[in-house]
Amino acid sequence: MAERIYIFDTTLRDGEQSPGASMNIEDKLQMALQLERLGVDIIEAGFPIASNGEFEAVREISKVVRSCTIAGLSRSTRADIDRCWEALQDAAKPRLHTFIATSDIHMEHKLKMSREKVLQEVRESVAHAKQYCADVEFSAEDATRSDWDFLVQVFHAAIAAGATTINIPDTVGYITPVEYGRLINYLCERVPETEYVVLSSHCHNDLGLAVANSLAGIENGVRQIECCINGIGERAGNAALEEVVMALRTRADHLPYSTNINTSEIYKTSRLLSSKTGLVVPYNKPVVGRNAFAHEAGIHQHGVIQKALTYEIMTPESVGRPRSTLVMGKHSGKHGLRKRYEELGYQISDAELSDIYKRFTALADKKKEVFDDDLISLVEDEYSLVDEVYELEYFQVISGNSTVPTCTVRLRKGSESIMDSATGDGPVDAVFKAISRISETSGKLLDYRVQSVSEGKDALGEVFVRVDFGSRTVVGRAASTDIIEASAKAFLNALNKVVGRGGAKGTPA
Ligand code: KIV
Ligand code: ZN
Repeated sequence: MAERIYIFDTTLRDGEQSPGASMNIEDKLQMALQLERLGVDIIEAGFPIASNGEFEAVREISKVVRSCTIAGLSRSTRADIDRCWEALQDAAKPRLHTFIATSDIHMEHKLKMSREKVLQEVRESVAHAKQYCADVEFSAEDATRSDWDFLVQVFHAAIAAGATTINIPDTVGYITPVEYGRLINYLCERVPETEYVVLSSHCHNDLGLAVANSLAGIENGVRQIECCINGIGERAGNAALEEVVMALRTRADHLPYSTNINTSEIYKTSRLLSSKTGLVVPYNKPVVGRNAFAHEAGIHQHGVIQKALTYEIMTPESVGRPRSTLVMGKHSGKHGLRKRYEELGYQISDAELSDIYKRFTALADKKKEVFDDDLISLVEDEYSLVDEVYELEYFQVISGNSTVPTCTVRLRKGSESIMDSATGDGPVDAVFKAISRISETSGKLLDYRVQSVSEGKDALGEVFVRVDFGSRTVVGRAASTDIIEASAKAFLNALNKVVGRGGAKGTPA
């Protein structure tokens, strides 16, 4: 029987450390519930000592997610571990994850600690965590640049103090697959107690080797993979969950290991994350990128039509991706719409369906063909709805290469309608300025991205903005067949997160 690999998802902790990926508590909760549906074994929900927002997020996720182990990260100090444990109190299956750096470069320049002192910290921190929790993970930060014999001493100490998972991170994405495999082997030989704990890999992608290194880890004894959806994470990111899982599934002949992942939830999870963070998935990203299953060359298309296996090593359906099907038009009814959503894996409540159906019919009026990806975008609009303090009623733009771009916007706020105009560097800038004048806010636009949701000249344009409102930086998202309208709505989506009820819940910038 295939040996089990445990999937440790750190999207909400290491992933959230990607520049621009910060999420508020509501977003994290939605992501955590989706990760539970995806079937990950462990969710690393955050680093509770880092901020009150992080603490609250870990606490809320611990309360709500019942079937996964919830891990919280802490450094080796008592204060960190105590705070982390406080946040994990309500988890059905809590895990304390503590770490300290073990490479000479980190110990000398960052920690300013001798090897002896680090060893003492390992013993004390793991023993302290163990008083609270049976499930303790210890990570040797920068393990792959550490002296191998010192690592042996560190892991002896951590296991003796009670660690049940030993993580060997490639913190700076430096090691190569063969070398990583050798390191794991060396550790297994020199620390025989590793037989009684779970060995874990946590590989960063600075050289594009995170997934290859993780697989090399598995081939040499690692049984837990730490990874992130869409491969997000510090700098170039972490090993991408979807790539590791699909490599194991697709190459089961060579890698006889199983996971608990329901792969048909992968695409939905990837989309949800990018709609929450505004981190758009590159077109050529394996498994979840737009082109991952697109066949451009005629010879390939011909082959796929004859037999998909000629050029497809896995099917889009296996990761929950629609095959760009034309599904509906303006004559489709609510019942048919619900059915299609169910086929796409979305359970929609009656109230949500009514909202979505209104927007669906408006879209079907504008767009000849409504694709599955359009439907997914509509449902994401629904999920990203916040308290709509300001609602777009009307806008008009004047622009051109010899006119000053000018925009007039009318917003509804409760029973009031407020109108104002502004000029800008371009039509989008003018829209944002007019909204800022009406709402008397001064959000600074940090990032603006637009992409098409599906195909055709009438495709939906999806806009992501990241706006700094002084007290908080938030992401806004919206889609429309008109990209100026999508831009206005994305900006309002961000603004409403700050001024609406959801505003009180967010993490600090
Ligand atoms: O990259 C790293 O070493 C980490 C540890 C805290 C596990 O993220
Ligand atoms: Zn990391």
